Amino acid sequence: MSNSRPLGIFDSGIGGLTVARAIHHQLPAEDLIYFGDTARLPYGTKSEQTVMRFAHQIADFLLHRDIKVLVVACNTVSAIALPSLSTSLSVPVIGVIEPGVAGAVRMTKNGCIGVIGTLATIESNAYSQALHRQNPALDVISVACPFFVPLAEEGLLDGPIAEAIAHRYLDTFVSAGTDTLILGCTHYPFLTPVIQKVVGKDVILIDSGIETAEVLATLLRENQMASASSHRGRLTVLLTDLPRRFREIGARFLGEPLDDVGLVSLAGE
Ligand code: DGL
Repeated sequence: MSNSRPLGIFDSGIGGLTVARAIHHQLPAEDLIYFGDTARLPYGTKSEQTVMRFAHQIADFLLHRDIKVLVVACNTVSAIALPSLSTSLSVPVIGVIEPGVAGAVRMTKNGCIGVIGTLATIESNAYSQALHRQNPALDVISVACPFFVPLAEEGLLDGPIAEAIAHRYLDTFVSAGTDTLILGCTHYPFLTPVIQKVVGKDVILIDSGIETAEVLATLLRENQMASASSHRGRLTVLLTDLPRRFREIGARFLGEPLDDVGLVSLAGE
């Protein structure tokens, strides 16, 4: 059995294209509809109620596009709204937190795991709770790194400014002896070189997007839901605003030009 319906992926903006990129790479035959709420980002500084409301609006929108699985690429939404989305939607829902946590638990040797993310993600404690569900004895340190999002958007990925900010956020992991660090935000994989430089080359960095693509591939395979197409799947990008430089920044996150982009509005907005 196969299923040619598209996968739905959403994020607060275009940072989640890093997750779409990992999925496109891992599952090249799948059609993807990517929804980026560029008109209302960032989510990482918003209240839980607002993030929850936005998440359900976007999920409804994508369900009307007949998606077969919903991938919540945004760590902030995964941290706040995943249980509610999973229980209320008629399709399987995958977030980025459980896959990232599974990757970190697999890789750590000394049980000291770091988590970095937006303010909302860190304050929700979703990562530390998920890690402790896997192993209550883990030593988990979480730090919000709000400046990393604009750094990645600006393409300021290395040099003295990026390094100074990275030291400010990450030195605590070095003194604690963290051996595995979860990059708990769509934008952070772009800062991998500077993060690695500051925490040291022996610290394992977990990219939740790559881990999520693997979990998704397993779900499609085990449930006979994968596309049987022999062609490369289509990636449609739908945004609630076309911000300045979105093509340039989006192409950086996606790793290829953004060809098929549409402007959409949500019901009631
Ligand atoms: N996509 C968000 C996340 O992964 C980062 C950007 C935002 O704050 O909206 O948490």
